[in-house]
Amino acid sequence: MHADLVVQNIGVLWTPKATNKPVRLQAMDEIEEYKNAFIAVKDGKILALGEGDGKRYIGEATKTYDAEGKLVTPGLVDSHTHVVHYGSREYEFEKKMRGVPYLKILEDGGGILASVRMTQEASEEALYAQSKQSLDRMLRYGVTTVEGKSGYGLDAETELKQLRVQKRLNEDHPVDIVGTYLGAHALPKAYKDNRKTFLDSVVDTMDVVKQENLAEFVDIFCEKGVFNVEESCYILEEAKKRGFGLKIHSDEIEALGGTELACELGAASADHLMVVSETGIKALAESDTIANVLPSTSFNLQSAYAPARKMLENGVALALSSDYNPGSSPSENFQFTLNLAAIHLKMSPKEILNAATVNAAHSLKKADKIGILKEGYNADFVIYEAENFPYVLYHFAVNHVKDVFKNGVLVVSNQNKVWEERI
Ligand code: NIG
Ligand code: FE
Repeated sequence: MHADLVVQNIGVLWTPKATNKPVRLQAMDEIEEYKNAFIAVKDGKILALGEGDGKRYIGEATKTYDAEGKLVTPGLVDSHTHVVHYGSREYEFEKKMRGVPYLKILEDGGGILASVRMTQEASEEALYAQSKQSLDRMLRYGVTTVEGKSGYGLDAETELKQLRVQKRLNEDHPVDIVGTYLGAHALPKAYKDNRKTFLDSVVDTMDVVKQENLAEFVDIFCEKGVFNVEESCYILEEAKKRGFGLKIHSDEIEALGGTELACELGAASADHLMVVSETGIKALAESDTIANVLPSTSFNLQSAYAPARKMLENGVALALSSDYNPGSSPSENFQFTLNLAAIHLKMSPKEILNAATVNAAHSLKKADKIGILKEGYNADFVIYEAENFPYVLYHFAVNHVKDVFKNGVLVVSNQNKVWEERI
């Protein structure tokens, strides 16, 4: 069969091995490598790939693309972001640098609550424009699928506004966005003595989110001074009843037991895990819940890094994400997250690529379509300026991506976006 597109002259192609399970233990440090390779694309999907020139897939109407001997990987999957929010918090960055704790800033009405006020006041158009700029950046860094959370509304109207804007962006922008409803991201001050009323309002909003198909997952910030394990259990169980996938922000600052709860409920992922306990690690290792580790947040908060080596050695399936948000991780640069995973989490290049592709796809329940370059999977892939993946990790804080293909279409060329002319 002839392809629509054949990418030729790939110097090195690195992809996770074909599997339908989260990758863990020895397999984490294994990658399929093809040298002097090609990728053939048909109808936005991978038709074939392997070593050689792929000539037999070239017909009269087939386009060809020369990868010039460079590195190719699957499109990166950034599976934990807060991409849709309004404004920024540079004014509290200085405070943080002077040592004021993250939770103290929140307690004083800043932090998440400050971004909530900005997002509540923003028009849909302003919110759309800021978030679109972030998605543009992410795509230029090689990210072809992101997860995006609400959580900067904390009232039904603004939470739904965030999710509706995100849905529009998913339709308009080449990056695929998987939606998560994070109505319980912080407790609004007005509900200080009425926590249950707030949680019930979050549950009520789930029904609208479901009806309008605005999110696939529900998430909660389980943390000291935010929501406890019992409250997290209530929200996640209500979400499960309504058919949502589950996620949790757990063990970021204090280990309360949120990770264990997530595993018990069959959550798709437990995220952060900087201070995960022994029992948390054991629960993760015995479940298919992905440990989503966010080293850019540790870097920005100058706090502990998650014990990634310990988790890997214990058989936990690990993913990496940027956690892009205006407070604890104000950078869309996912390659930098991967640099940090090498330097601070001591992960190998193969572990890092598995974590940023196939396991990230599992944390979004999309591992049957993305995260691996394999026949029938989405033709989402990245061509780097670099000749091998270890170089991308070593030469840090620089964008090594040259071109990006999304569903078989060139959307970034020489680091410039070229999709707008096409949609
Ligand atoms: O994942 N930890 C909770 N939520 C975000 C931070 C949100 C913010 O500071 O605006 C996170 O790090
Ligand atoms: Fe987060």
